[in-house]
Amino acid sequence: MVGRDWTSLALPSGHAWNDGRAELLDSGLLETLGGELHAAFESLRGKSIRGKPMVPGHMRSLHAKMLWTILRANRLGVVVETGVCNGLSSAVILEAMHRNGHGRLISVDLPEFSDPSLNSVDVWDGKAGAVIPAGREVGWLVPADRRDRWRLELGKARDVLPGILNAAAPIDIFIHDSEHSYENQAFEFAVGYSALVSGGMLIATDIDWSDAFDDFWRDVRCFGAHRVFVDPSCAIVVKP
Ligand SMILES: C[S@@+](CC[C@H](N)C(=O)[O-])C[C@H]1O[C@@H](n2cnc3c(N)ncnc32)[C@H](O)[C@@H]1O
Repeated sequence: MVGRDWTSLALPSGHAWNDGRAELLDSGLLETLGGELHAAFESLRGKSIRGKPMVPGHMRSLHAKMLWTILRANRLGVVVETGVCNGLSSAVILEAMHRNGHGRLISVDLPEFSDPSLNSVDVWDGKAGAVIPAGREVGWLVPADRRDRWRLELGKARDVLPGILNAAAPIDIFIHDSEHSYENQAFEFAVGYSALVSGGMLIATDIDWSDAFDDFWRDVRCFGAHRVFVDPSCAIVVKP
């Protein structure tokens, strides 16, 4: 199932995808975030140490609208996301939680900066060119008055997630948007899914980067999980 069908699994009946999407567009948030990213990257040229053009690396607009709609319709409590970079997805989630008056977000990121002297040596070789420009911090797009519901943990997902999930479980949503290697995706899908509450959602982006999602799905489908594709790169799995 590709396309609109994801809404019947992820949204309670009576909540329309069109309304959620329209609310986010009317808020001007995506436009503001896009403008800030554009200004910060306008004069940034060059390639990462792995030869990839430096880019903001934010999630697709469709995925940001999907997250917004799910959060606004379900008023969920605890969300854990991996992959923050400049902070577009975090800003969208935190604004939705602010409007809900409910929820908290725990984000994990192993950042790469445009200034190579600031970078960890531990970045995956296959990583694309998502960077944080000079003079900015991880998640700088998140406004100061939207940070009270936010905890940001820096480090490699495989190192920091177990402790975070042990303490925070059961969680309502786990979002993967960090390192898209087979090993890391397989790890995140397994630990994120097992930390979910019954009815909780795993939102997996960039599933077309490796076979990890297909292997993960083979492991959980026989236990009654439900899966739907938002588009060929993104799927939602609901835990029974
Ligand atoms: C695609 S970007 C995230 C974009 C963000 N979700 C948004 O919408 O703006 C991926 C981020 O994950 C970070 N990352 C890469 N490998 C990681 C790892 N092993 N653990 C945690 N974060 C990692 C990257 O440095 C980058 O900041």
